[in-house]
Amino acid sequence: MKIFLDTANIEDIREGMKLGLVDGVTTNPTLVSREGVKFEDRVVEICETVKGPVSAEVTSTDYENMVLQARELASLNEHVVVKIPMTRDGMRAVKTLYGEGIKTNVTLIFNSLQATLAAKAGATYVSPFVGRLDDIASNGMEIVEEIVRIFANYGYSTEIIVASVRHPMHVLEAALMGADIVTIPYEVLLKLFNHPLTDIGIERFMDDWKRYQKQQGK
Ligand code: E4P
Repeated sequence: MKIFLDTANIEDIREGMKLGLVDGVTTNPTLVSREGVKFEDRVVEICETVKGPVSAEVTSTDYENMVLQARELASLNEHVVVKIPMTRDGMRAVKTLYGEGIKTNVTLIFNSLQATLAAKAGATYVSPFVGRLDDIASNGMEIVEEIVRIFANYGYSTEIIVASVRHPMHVLEAALMGADIVTIPYEVLLKLFNHPLTDIGIERFMDDWKRYQKQQGK
């Protein structure tokens, strides 16, 4: 399973990259707006840091302007993946961009049929938003399970990015279901490392080692 960071914060991305476990980054207009920097500059900075897929979202909603904006974003860096919303105009744009060799990530997916349409249009990635479904008392991970099955049934090469991840249980379920990627906030990445028995184990090993060294007269 690949791990992407879901952030536009360059410090978090740099720290994440140091761990050696981050394969890519996803951003969205909300995440970029928190940073107070020029969008295009930040996209390039992230691409140069990550050297892997970096999703940057279009802010137009009509077909023509989405395609124009997507071409501009894709020309910024070879690692840019253009994020396109799940709409009729969006899927027309995905098809056109597929024909031009531009990678796309279809965002704001809330059911498995939307993901199927995106795969048919030629999306490189689909992003089901599991946390936002959980927020309205609908089981977000259920649609991931369906998408995994549907893509396997038809041999779609579109990769599934489990998005809107709130906690490690989403990551565990995504891994068990065989989703290709999870995109997670930096805080969730840090939580994945933790287990109280690991901390207790390290403390005990260190104490025993100190005692042993004392016995040895060191
Ligand atoms: C995915 O690409 C989105 O940026 C993101 O996961 C949305 O998450 P949210 O529901 O926490 O805003």
